Amino acid sequence: MQPLLFVLLSLSFLYDAVDNANILGIIPSPFYSHQATFRPLWKELARKGHNLTIVTTDLMEPNENISQIDLSGTYDVIKNHRNGSYSILKETNLIKKLDVFRDLANEIIVYQLTHPDLEPLKDPTKYHCDLIIVEAVHPWFFALGVKLGCPVIGVSSMDAFPWVHNFVGNAIHPSMYYQVDLMYNNPLSFLERLKNTAWTVMYKLLSLKVFPVFDWYVEEYIGKDLPKMTELHKSLSLLIVNANPAFYPIRPSTPVTVNIGGGAHLVKPKPLPKDLQDYLDQSKDGCIYFSLGSTINSNYLSRETIEIFRQTFEELAPMRVLWKYENETLENKPHNLEIRKWLPQHDVLRHPNVKVFITQGGLQSMEEAIDSAVPMLGMPFYGDQKNNVKKMSIKKFGIALDVATIDKKSLKDAILELVDNPLYKKNIEKLSAISKDQPMTGIEKAVWWTEYVLRHGGTEHLRSPSADIPLYQYFFLDIIAFVILVFIVLILLVYYLIKLIRTIFRLVFSKRNKVKTN
Ligand SMILES: *[C@@H]1O[C@H](CO)[C@@H](O)[C@H](O)[C@H]1NC(C)=O
Ligand SMILES: *[C@@H]1O[C@H](CO)[C@@H](O)[C@H](O)[C@H]1NC(C)=O
Ligand SMILES: *[C@@H]1O[C@H](CO)[C@@H](O)[C@H](O)[C@H]1NC(C)=O
Ligand SMILES: *[C@@H]1O[C@H](CO)[C@@H](O)[C@H](O)[C@H]1NC(C)=O
Repeated sequence: MQPLLFVLLSLSFLYDAVDNANILGIIPSPFYSHQATFRPLWKELARKGHNLTIVTTDLMEPNENISQIDLSGTYDVIKNHRNGSYSILKETNLIKKLDVFRDLANEIIVYQLTHPDLEPLKDPTKYHCDLIIVEAVHPWFFALGVKLGCPVIGVSSMDAFPWVHNFVGNAIHPSMYYQVDLMYNNPLSFLERLKNTAWTVMYKLLSLKVFPVFDWYVEEYIGKDLPKMTELHKSLSLLIVNANPAFYPIRPSTPVTVNIGGGAHLVKPKPLPKDLQDYLDQSKDGCIYFSLGSTINSNYLSRETIEIFRQTFEELAPMRVLWKYENETLENKPHNLEIRKWLPQHDVLRHPNVKVFITQGGLQSMEEAIDSAVPMLGMPFYGDQKNNVKKMSIKKFGIALDVATIDKKSLKDAILELVDNPLYKKNIEKLSAISKDQPMTGIEKAVWWTEYVLRHGGTEHLRSPSADIPLYQYFFLDIIAFVILVFIVLILLVYYLIKLIRTIFRLVFSKRNKVKTN
């Protein structure tokens, strides 16, 4: 064959495979923020002509190249769990909470895996799949890759947990990285390292208990005779994490780890609605923006807490306040306060008169605030929020308050400190500049690597030995044991040798002495 023709043919083959791929995206976590993180990726892949099928708990706006499988019933499963609404948030006893969590997780997984709309996607004769992109904390879906015969990319809407980083061989060494949460505070003290090491061992033991459960889900709901989790968890072609270095530890990672951190979900500015634009333009003495995000919202606040906020805001006049408040009306609403059920948050934060952002510490919200360089007052509720908020006080681009113990004085003091002390603004401006200074955007990176996986049908050639090495080798326990053994043998050898020599000498001398005395 003519070399040129060959090149042209293979190029056209690549062009086809990469241009019109059928991509199955699965984001099962019932959190708006998890869903929102990946929407720009779906849209960009669709724009490039791929045919996407997205399994989601929060439908996005329709797109001609994206079909969606609606798992929003997951929210009802949570709401109705154990007859009570949100039992998982209300339980305070840790052991009971774990119990509720396990129970609820099981109910959700079974609901999702048995969803009738998912059935055709489990059948390779009905659905031709070129690539699966799935949230890596739901590893039973990796089995679908084997069943449909296509590579699997794992994604995480924040930094991945260590057990997920472990899938692709990234550093999870307990001397540097926390095993239980995503916080870091290096260097770790001896006690912290001890605790971490114990957790590492615990996780290993836990996986012995949990992996068979995952295997059961696979066997029951995805397909028979598929590989076990112990093998499956190594099948990822790529791990896409959203680990903004402002929040997460810097970690040596293998080339199949793609960090889109630093505001992957951020979109270009849009003009504000006229009334909002006017309100903010007229806030000459500055405006405080208050939102607890989409999962936690102001309905979670007690009446007393709402009253504390209302009074404090009133006292802060002539400064103005914009509050994403879910109720129609607020009693005794002061004249310097506006409430709205929904706000275009990022565009509000971009307005120069917004001086402080009161937030629950959700990752996406904080990234929008960092992008817009607005100092924050963080009031965490659950999940990673506590750590994100801790980060703002450590790096001094915000102040943390506990919503359970909040009072008028602490709230007012914190807001005034953020407004009056230029340190916070300076720090967040620096962070903002760093997070924007990147060779390509997170989404460009993710799209390039996704098509790389499509072009090569996986990334086996990039797999690091660190992904497969057993823990005892990673911590060279066998080497240490061997060296100690050799050392002990040497010492014993020397000991017995000396003993032997002494015995010989004694024998020889005692004979000589006998000869002399005779
Ligand atoms: C859908 O894919 C086609 C190419 O197949 C592309 O021209 C079009 O712009 C895409 N539509 C969207 C909304 O991304
Ligand atoms: C896109 O994928 C869906 C399955 O989710 C399929 O029904 C449809 O025919 C595909 N479209 C193209 C153009 O391949
Ligand atoms: C839920 O309610 C039903 C009937 O109202 C009751 O029998 C059951 O024990 C309740 N379950 C829990 C977990 O409270
Ligand atoms: C919200 O409004 C409803 C009535 O519309 C009321 O019952 C409820 O207590 C209000 N919630 C708060 C937090 O004010």
